[in-house]
Amino acid sequence: MIEIKNVSKRFGGNEVLKDVNLTLDKGDVVAILGPSGSGKTTFLRSLNFLEHADTGTLTIGGKTYDLHNASKKQIREVRRNTAFVFQHYNLFANLTALRNVTEGLVVGRGVPKAEAERIAKDALDKVGLQDRYDYYPSQLSGGQQQRVSIARAIAVNPEVILFDEPTSALDPELIGGVLSVMRGLAEGGVTMIVVTHEMRFARDVANKVVFMEHGIVVEEGAPEQIFEHAQHARTREFLQQIDPETDIEAAPISTPVLPVSAPAAPIRHGALEGIPRLAQPVPVLA
Ligand SMILES: Nc1ncnc2c1ncn2[C@@H]1O[C@H](COP(=O)(O)OP(=O)(O)OP(=O)(O)O)[C@@H](O)[C@H]1O
Ligand SMILES: [Mg+2]
Repeated sequence: MIEIKNVSKRFGGNEVLKDVNLTLDKGDVVAILGPSGSGKTTFLRSLNFLEHADTGTLTIGGKTYDLHNASKKQIREVRRNTAFVFQHYNLFANLTALRNVTEGLVVGRGVPKAEAERIAKDALDKVGLQDRYDYYPSQLSGGQQQRVSIARAIAVNPEVILFDEPTSALDPELIGGVLSVMRGLAEGGVTMIVVTHEMRFARDVANKVVFMEHGIVVEEGAPEQIFEHAQHARTREFLQQIDPETDIEAAPISTPVLPVSAPAAPIRHGALEGIPRLAQPVPVLA
């Protein structure tokens, strides 16, 4: 179980997070929705010490960490147990796809090089990049770069992967490939927190949806609960703005979702599925 308690953060006079709490069970996929500026990125970054929270605790891997006051060793421990997937991939431009994935294993964790390469290739295969090991980021599409960054995250086998709008920098035709990899991870039991504007992902893949505004969690619940029976007017308003068809049953896909260009495995298209599903769930690496 992962428990996040009382996370607060202000930037000067701007109170960006006000006592945010969230609990996840193993295998949970939490989608965080909310308008621009509501604090979603700040919240996610605080969990990985990329941002320094004013208050808050994170319980992960059986230990509780103070998000305001942690030692370097504790920060390293938390970062080992979490992985971050950024909107703009954050790959090393001067390293190949393979080296981008092995680097964290070899340098960060002391995994022997040959073993790291085996794990990295396995992770790249799982995201459909088995033929791109030696490509540099500039030789890859945005979707492929994002899949390298997902491979980098799964390779370290963290307790949770934190995604900050992983598809929002991508051209529409590349979104589907990344979402199907993420769906594969979810089906393989990977625990994830995903800040997203992809309503179809939140509805179909997440098992918990959190709506944030002005630094507070306005409402959280199962996707059906939030999308069909939101308790708060603000949640309903937001969802309708994003997807005016929200209260219509079986709402159409708001963002075009197309098949992966170079899939790891054949994709099955279920009649009702907006996000292509990988033939095999992507299991957590041993
Ligand atoms: N480093 C910073 N210094 C000062 N203010 C910041 C900083 N980072 C974020 N903020 C402010 O904190 C608030 C929340 O920002 P945040 O990026 O967390 O929002 P968000 O919900 O992720 O928005 P978006 O959907 O646009 O990504 C905003 O008002 C923003 O201007
Ligand atoms: Mg953000």
